[in-house]
Amino acid sequence: MKNVMIICLSCLFAASIAYAGQDIELPKTKAKIGMDIMQAMESRAASRSFSEKKVPLKVISTILWAGYGIIVESGDKTVHGYDAMSGATSRNRYTIPWGWGDPYLKVYLLLKTGAYEYLPQEHKLKFITDKNLIVKSGSGGSGAFGVIVIAADFNEMPNYNEDVNNVAFLSAGSASQNMYVAGAAYNIQMLTQVSIPKNSIKKELNMSKGVEPLTILSFGSY
Ligand SMILES: Cc1cc2nc3c(=O)[nH]c(=O)nc-3n(C[C@H](O)[C@H](O)[C@H](O)COP(=O)(O)O)c2cc1C
Repeated sequence: MKNVMIICLSCLFAASIAYAGQDIELPKTKAKIGMDIMQAMESRAASRSFSEKKVPLKVISTILWAGYGIIVESGDKTVHGYDAMSGATSRNRYTIPWGWGDPYLKVYLLLKTGAYEYLPQEHKLKFITDKNLIVKSGSGGSGAFGVIVIAADFNEMPNYNEDVNNVAFLSAGSASQNMYVAGAAYNIQMLTQVSIPKNSIKKELNMSKGVEPLTILSFGSY
């Protein structure tokens, strides 16, 4: 029954029927997309205007996973084993490396039909609001299908010193680049922006104290 529900939600999404108000289970990401990684890197490009083509949920699922997904869950082994230096890596191996204890990024998805937080552990979207926050996020991509907001949770980065901000931005950069490349494999382009209305984003997404938006990525087909 749960599978049927997930399939139905995916259909609704693909058909772009206004759907909001609930968490969304994301479809599993595919191990292979069909484009070579070097080709995907070659076709990566920023865009400031997007076509009206819909971006299917499976593509969004892959992009979010590429930027902040879990590859190997705690208890499983990878060929490399674990990096004992990082608490995050010793529990779950993510698609990006961590430089400071527990995973300290938060990733949000803004669509015309509402805003969600991406939960990597469950690989699902947690509903926040049914408001269309795309324009309010400061998106400079005209006609963007959606916007991904990457924030740092400084509560997960104790012993603050001047490096912490750099570490958070570096991780946001790793996540952004993975998303760009995964998107490129599906003919999706993006636009990275750091000049964004941070206070308004914080407020609209109910970010708690210590959580700070770092960057947004507008995305869409071209
Ligand atoms: C870290 C970073 C921050 C950026 N911030 C902004 C921004 O706030 N506003 C903007 O219009 N472009 C910004 N850009 C530039 C665009 O995202 C994009 O990289 C640029 O247009 C060049 O296109 P290309 O990436 O296809 O070469 C930023 C780029 C990077 C890498």
